[in-house]
Amino acid sequence: MCGIVGYVGDLRAADFLLEGLRRLEYRGYDSAGVAAVDRHQLFHVVKTAGRIDSLADRLADDMPIGTTGIGHTRWATHGAATEANAHPHLGPGGEVVIVHNGVIENYAALKSRLQQKGYVFHSDTDSEVIAYMLEDGYKQLSIAPGRAPTDDALVGLVQKVLAKLQGTYGVGVLFRSRPDLIIAARLGSPLVIGVSDDAHFLASDASPLVGYTDKIVYLTDHQVALLKADSLQIAHRDLGEVSHNVEKLEIASGDVELGEYEYYMLKEIFEQPQSLENTMRGRLNLDNATAVFGGLNLTPQELRGVDRILLTACGTSWHAAMVGEYLIEEMARIPVEVEYASELRYRNPPVPRRTLVFGITQSGETADTLAALREMKRKGHPTLAICNVVGSSIAQEANGGIYLHAGPEVGVASTKAYTSQLAVLAMLGLYFGRLNHLSFDQGYRIIRAMQALPDAVRTALNTQEQAQRVAEKYQSANNFLYLGRYFNFPTALEGALKLKEISYIHAEGYPAAELKHGPIALVDENTPSVFIMPQGVVYDKVMSNLQEIKARGGPVIAIASEDDHEIDNYADDVIRIPTVEEFLQPIVSVIPLQFIAYHIALLRGCDVDKPRNLAKSVTVE
Ligand code: F6R
Repeated sequence: MCGIVGYVGDLRAADFLLEGLRRLEYRGYDSAGVAAVDRHQLFHVVKTAGRIDSLADRLADDMPIGTTGIGHTRWATHGAATEANAHPHLGPGGEVVIVHNGVIENYAALKSRLQQKGYVFHSDTDSEVIAYMLEDGYKQLSIAPGRAPTDDALVGLVQKVLAKLQGTYGVGVLFRSRPDLIIAARLGSPLVIGVSDDAHFLASDASPLVGYTDKIVYLTDHQVALLKADSLQIAHRDLGEVSHNVEKLEIASGDVELGEYEYYMLKEIFEQPQSLENTMRGRLNLDNATAVFGGLNLTPQELRGVDRILLTACGTSWHAAMVGEYLIEEMARIPVEVEYASELRYRNPPVPRRTLVFGITQSGETADTLAALREMKRKGHPTLAICNVVGSSIAQEANGGIYLHAGPEVGVASTKAYTSQLAVLAMLGLYFGRLNHLSFDQGYRIIRAMQALPDAVRTALNTQEQAQRVAEKYQSANNFLYLGRYFNFPTALEGALKLKEISYIHAEGYPAAELKHGPIALVDENTPSVFIMPQGVVYDKVMSNLQEIKARGGPVIAIASEDDHEIDNYADDVIRIPTVEEFLQPIVSVIPLQFIAYHIALLRGCDVDKPRNLAKSVTVE
């Protein structure tokens, strides 16, 4: 949700800014802009409504030459997606320019105070008040004639202004009089800093840094950073100047580039055998027939004492949590609750002692998941993150956790992060199972099944052609039903969400047997039903549900096991997936659903990677 970049060094800043914004475009894509300051202390701001390509067109004729600059790609929260509302925002006297990610909740009061002082605003954004407050404060700095304000004065000014803001921010600030520096700060919105010998880079996440540097510093809340070409200083609101860890960035350029693919979503679907291998690497121990996690930060005694598990998440990650509930309860016999993070943060359910809370999140930035985890932490429960993005806010906030290691996920529709979440949850089921009642033999067999999983997913990728044919046949439908039971009920929800978000077709996921309690009224010859029904304990039951649909004239697409021939007699279209243990079916059966959504979206001319109204990480409530 909004992406920020910055550069201070010897080269023309706008080149990195533009490239960096392209890599961050998945965070928001309704308007974009860059600002640079040159050594003659002139600001050059270029911004547009629309996507980064529109900005690139503008920059082709009007490229700022300064070697210090900031840029922004926006997902609108306050004010429409217009050029005036695009960032960067200039202060009223042209002394300061800012980019902001987050929400300033008290902006209306701050704005009206500034208006009473005579300031005239040019946008409807909450962010513009930051530029105006900085400029108002700047005027009050005592600066000797002909001199520029000192580093300390500017850092102090930024800290003073930030202290008046309620809400969240990642900000980058340029001062016209100090073209040698950028000031950046964060509270609740992510920022990282790239370090190289002769430059420093600022970004909302690590992807823009790839190819420029592999040294990264993760800013934490309440830190303010002063970036110059050859130095980086970080101060904390309460602690004063603090030292910083420079970590190694583990992302390669192939991870963030499209390569041979037209869309990131397709690339990421095809990466799943590898991303699953990476998720499981080093975590399955055959000698003890259990899973191994390095970062839980809880002793075996504490883990053995867990009576209940609470999984909280949003969207696709919430679907993963639902599969997790089935998996962990089945394998470990520990009761599991699944809560939407947006509900949990306010709902105040009774959460018994000895409950372990997991926040599941690809981005690690989802505002509701972060808030729910904070609330649970405040109540004294140990909180852990199952998260893909290293150093993200939720990874920092939790007491410990498990990284997915799925590699950067750029397509807005989550694919490989979802299957990696499921693999982590299966490993957690195994781990807690082995702490409780699972035998060595049972654990061993679970591990063997998981080790075979990447190959099964590789085979499932062969369903693309069949999925494409299904997409061609049903591309004009206005409604879809997705139906499954047991482990594949959450798969039905996920298949429906994938279709909705990228093709804009209305789709509903249901437990197949619930159909006759209402949704069957939707069935007609124009409403396809996708049955996720690999062989297993509920196969016959789902088959009856399928026949209920057929009897009412509804077209049926079945996602079925490779050796299921009975299904040919009933379904209009069959997509065959490889046979895996039942608890791993959701990882394999979601693959054709990802393909169906992808191909229908493509056929309907939708932008698969950047669906309308959406952004990759939802950092606002
Ligand atoms: C859908 C999708 C979203 C996210 C949700 C939570 O494809 O990606 O539903 O799953 O916004 O995001 P994370 O997992 O980053 O917390």
